[in-house]
Amino acid sequence: MHIAIIGTGYVGLVTGACFAEFGVFVVCVDKDEEKINKLKKGIIPFYEPGLEDLVRRNAKEGRLKFTTNIKEAVEESLVIFIAVGTPPRGDGSANLEYVEEVAKQIAENMNSYKVIVTKSTVPVGTGFKIKEIIIKNLKKPVNFDIVSNPEFLREGSAVEDFMRPNRVVIGAESEQAIAIMKDLYRPLYLLETPFVITNITTSELIKYATNSFLATKISFINEISSLCELVGANVNVVAKALGLDGRIGPKFLHAGIGFGGSCLPKDTRAIIKLAEEKGLNMSIVKAALEVNEKQKERLTKKIIDVFNGNLKDKTIGILGLSFKPNTDDIREAPSLFVIKRLLQEGAKIKAYDPIAMDNTKLLFPQITYCKDSYDLAKDCDAIVILTEWNQFRNLDLIELKKLMKDLFFFDFRNIYEPEKMRNLGFKYFSVGRV
Ligand code: UDX
Repeated sequence: MHIAIIGTGYVGLVTGACFAEFGVFVVCVDKDEEKINKLKKGIIPFYEPGLEDLVRRNAKEGRLKFTTNIKEAVEESLVIFIAVGTPPRGDGSANLEYVEEVAKQIAENMNSYKVIVTKSTVPVGTGFKIKEIIIKNLKKPVNFDIVSNPEFLREGSAVEDFMRPNRVVIGAESEQAIAIMKDLYRPLYLLETPFVITNITTSELIKYATNSFLATKISFINEISSLCELVGANVNVVAKALGLDGRIGPKFLHAGIGFGGSCLPKDTRAIIKLAEEKGLNMSIVKAALEVNEKQKERLTKKIIDVFNGNLKDKTIGILGLSFKPNTDDIREAPSLFVIKRLLQEGAKIKAYDPIAMDNTKLLFPQITYCKDSYDLAKDCDAIVILTEWNQFRNLDLIELKKLMKDLFFFDFRNIYEPEKMRNLGFKYFSVGRV
């Protein structure tokens, strides 16, 4: 089967490379010539474990190619995935400009029956909007079907998530389109991956509902962490016991400094906006966002308070800048909030992250970037862990202690044991554990 993926961003590239790995012939299209030229040389514009290998190997074996020519890609493909960006507008709603433009271009170049699939997270109703655009722009009468096939890829483990998903969701109106999609995903069928086959609208909503629920779960445990601190309970143990209840499940119950990234914040805002347009107040999702903001403020205030609000001659070392481990993505990362706030208080900031420093330098050129955790610790009054990178889990604490000026240690991902840290002499603070 030949397919086209339009948009070589995060979702498009992972989808294209993984389908090629399944044995499908994939052409990835982007209007950005420079990006396509780089991809042709096997250069990936972002960090994602395993992706570069996959792209290079499949390109070499002739199943994955890159082009700026949408006409050729549409003509030679049976299935066309739209995977362009849907950036948030100022009011939280998704900007569909790129999706609509691509739909128009697909229509203008359609020469035979096509299945047109939305892979980007798009607001409920977009599938039907695309259908209208295509009908309006068709140059000759050609049959086609619209399918919604949302992705549930996590940054840092996107390839694994694609290859071994919890489920595949397909929203379609025709049996033919469903059969073609099932054929495309046949390798996953063989692994007994559950398939949810539904209508387009339901499928579109599933993506928003999933991310809103995940955000709510995180904010729930973060709010419990505040209460734990007030009553003297341990949030890690509460989360463990909650997770052992089969109705709740153990995942997404790690208390911390809050969620960030490109999806959870954007999709929660978008579902709120979508509901508002229909006259519905999404109070739970709104609360999840509100708690997320409060958590960042509350934990940053802990740092400010230990210095009695006087950070003018203090050096704070930030360990971890990306919104989570194994990515260089800093979009809506809690680190940005914390750094901005501490700079306002007059603190001197040092920072280290295994791969997200280049991105952060563009936003905060004025802070000191370090070569590793120990370089960072030198002369610091406090260390603050904001991302639970593996290399921060096993720090040489004795060495760290020798290098620091004062021994304040804020572990906002709860990776160390409070008692052990205090016995070592650190003035240790974490989340929801006293
Ligand atoms: C998410 C969804 O998981 C994915 O299915 C969707 O397609 C895109 O959005 P991603 O943004 O890559 O993926 O990150 P995820 O692993 O979900 O983490 C999101 C944020 O929540 C991170 O900032 C993480 O640190 C935080 N988090 C996650 C917690 O604070 N506690 C948890 O228990 C889990």
